[in-house]
Amino acid sequence: MAYQFSKDSETRFQKLIPQFPNKRSLILPCLFLLQKDQGFVDHEGMEYIASRIGAPISLAHVHGVATFYTMYNKKPVGKFHVQICANISCYLAGSDAITEKVCNKLKVSKGQTTSDGIFTVEEVQCLGACGFGPVAQINDTYYENLDPKQMDQILEELAKKA
Ligand code: FES
Repeated sequence: MAYQFSKDSETRFQKLIPQFPNKRSLILPCLFLLQKDQGFVDHEGMEYIASRIGAPISLAHVHGVATFYTMYNKKPVGKFHVQICANISCYLAGSDAITEKVCNKLKVSKGQTTSDGIFTVEEVQCLGACGFGPVAQINDTYYENLDPKQMDQILEELAKKA
């Protein structure tokens, strides 16, 4: 098993253990640590988490949680993970135009990563900011009340940081 928590994640894991006496509840934060460490949640990482949490938690438990929640990336993503909400409130506020702008600008389709590995574009379900649509989440930052021109500027700024 090649994957191991980073030093920081190991420290956080040790602090989590007493906070979650029900081992099943440790799965979510452990998957979060895995994703923080390597950017995505893969089979090997899930095996590691199952082994670290230990019985009665199995790989099947970890896999079930990881595949239920879309916020866990199942494959590597670009430096900037552009997630555009396509749910009803954002759709009615114009999320389609945002997605089209992003895909055209970056020359990718939904779900793809740019050839330089800088941006991954995805449509996602509700990001929990329905009153402020269209909404996009890029890494840990939310962008609300977007229009295509703003989105263009945001991508330009991010590209400069790449
Ligand atoms: Fe877009 Fe809820 S519908 S954030």
